[in-house]
Amino acid sequence: MSIIDDAIDYVKKIFENDYSGHDVFHTLRVYKTATNIACKEKADILIVQLASLLHDVDDKKLSPLTYEHKDKTIKFLESHKVDEIIINRICTIIDEVSFAGKDTIVPSSIEGKCVQDADRLDAIGAIGIARAFAYGGSHNREIYLPDIEPKKDMNKEEYSKHISTTVNHFYEKLFLLKDMMNTQTAKTIAEHRDRYMKSYLSEFMAEWNGEC
Ligand code: ADP
Ligand code: NI
Repeated sequence: MSIIDDAIDYVKKIFENDYSGHDVFHTLRVYKTATNIACKEKADILIVQLASLLHDVDDKKLSPLTYEHKDKTIKFLESHKVDEIIINRICTIIDEVSFAGKDTIVPSSIEGKCVQDADRLDAIGAIGIARAFAYGGSHNREIYLPDIEPKKDMNKEEYSKHISTTVNHFYEKLFLLKDMMNTQTAKTIAEHRDRYMKSYLSEFMAEWNGEC
C-alpha cells in the first residue's frame, strides 16, 4: 500500500460519522481537485496530495484538542517515515488553508495555493450549497431570517465567533471566494459555480416572496 492509499483509508475512518458538511467525500473531492490543479501549476504532487488528504483531520471545529499541534497529521506522517522538512511543509499548507475573513492568508507555497483553491471550490457551487445547509442544520442554524443582515468585512476572530443563518453565510463567505482564488484553473471553475449559486439564491428569494 502506498502512503496515499493509507492516507485515504485513514481519512475514511476519521470522517466516518460526520454530517456537518465534512464527510470523507469532501476530503476526497479536495484531493482530486487539488491534484488536477497541481498538475497544471507544476506543483509538487505528493505534497499537494498528502496536504489535501490531511487538511481537515486536525480542523479547529472538528478536532479542537489536536488542532493546535496537528497531532493527527504529524503522527500519520511520522508513522510513514516522512522527512521532517516535508512534514513541516505540509503543516504550513494546512495552517494557511482556512478562510478567516479579512485575515485570510495567501499561502506561501504553490502547493498551498493548490490545496486552498481546491478546498474553496468545494465550498461553492451545487455541492457548496448542499454543504452549507448541512452545516447549518447540524449547528441548529435557521435557513434564513429576513431581519438579520449579513455581517461584512469580518476579521478572523469575528468570523470564528459569528453565528448567523445559512443564507447569510453566502454573503459572509461563499460569494467572496470567487475573487480569492489563487490559480487561473480555480478562478475559471469558481466563476461558473458562483453564477450558479447566485441564480439559486435569486430563485430562493423569489419563492420566499411568493413571486414564482
Ligand atoms: P472547509 O475548510 O472544509 O471549507 P469549514 O469548516 O470552513 O471547512 O466549512 C465546512 C463547510 O460548512 C463549508 O462548505 C462551509 O461553507 C460550510 N459552513 C461553514 N460555516 C458555515 C455557516 N456558518 N453556515 C453555513 N455553512 C457553513
Ligand atoms: Ni476542507
